Amino acid sequence: MGAWGPGGRGPPFQAGPRAGAGAGGRCAPRVAGARGGHRAPASPARGTGGSGGGQPARLAVFVSGGGSNLRALQDAVERGRVAGEVAAVLSDKTECGGVAFAREQGIPTHVYPAADGEGLSPEGLVELLQGDLGVDFIVLAGYLKLIPPELCRAYPRGILNIHPALLPAFGGKGFYGKRVHRAVVESGARFSGATVHFVDEEYDRGPILAQRAVEVRPHDSADDLAARVLQEEHRVLPEAVAALCSGRVEWREDGVPFIWRAS
Ligand code: GRF
Repeated sequence: MGAWGPGGRGPPFQAGPRAGAGAGGRCAPRVAGARGGHRAPASPARGTGGSGGGQPARLAVFVSGGGSNLRALQDAVERGRVAGEVAAVLSDKTECGGVAFAREQGIPTHVYPAADGEGLSPEGLVELLQGDLGVDFIVLAGYLKLIPPELCRAYPRGILNIHPALLPAFGGKGFYGKRVHRAVVESGARFSGATVHFVDEEYDRGPILAQRAVEVRPHDSADDLAARVLQEEHRVLPEAVAALCSGRVEWREDGVPFIWRAS
């Protein structure tokens, strides 16, 4: 699926969630931290990405469907694998699996955009996330609506999306849900997989942060492939979010992000 956002290049190899804030010159710096405080995500592994020893990063997860990626992320949070917490779940739907799960977990939920157009404006959404909710990073986990450019400008290099194919192939307008897997099977490609990327102005075109590959088997249906790709989504999304929360994202000079791993 696609979303809107900034795609600016940043300074060479600045690590950490705040490295890109304002770097592209087009985005207002984020005011992070709940209720007016300035929050530094927890313990960046290296670089300039935070103050170290900070509080867990606050995440807003946007969903439109079953919410299995949200569950995987929440599970990783509970196991202590992500230096963050899911502070809010947003959805364009008042009811869906992801929203139901959030309620079960006691995570606040909000609707955006409202079906009748009467709900939060884009500016109101930014205000909610940066103000009361104190959200540091946004994760689009099967969210089917475009997010407004205002949100992208408020969170430069702070929004991740999961896509169920190996971008830049099989992405862009019209490539969502089952259509992606059908197109992969029909193409004869031998590999598909899951991609986590930063959100950019175009559908599925923002900088790729992490990928996991899956083999396409000779008799795979789109459903077979979707199920195996989804398993990899559940691994790669928490890994990428964990890296973002702990300041382990390094930006190459040409604007390509990598996850720094201790070895
Ligand atoms: C996933 O395949 C995701 O990549 C796509 O939508 C699906 C959402 O699944 N964008 P879930 O709602 O997380 O179960």
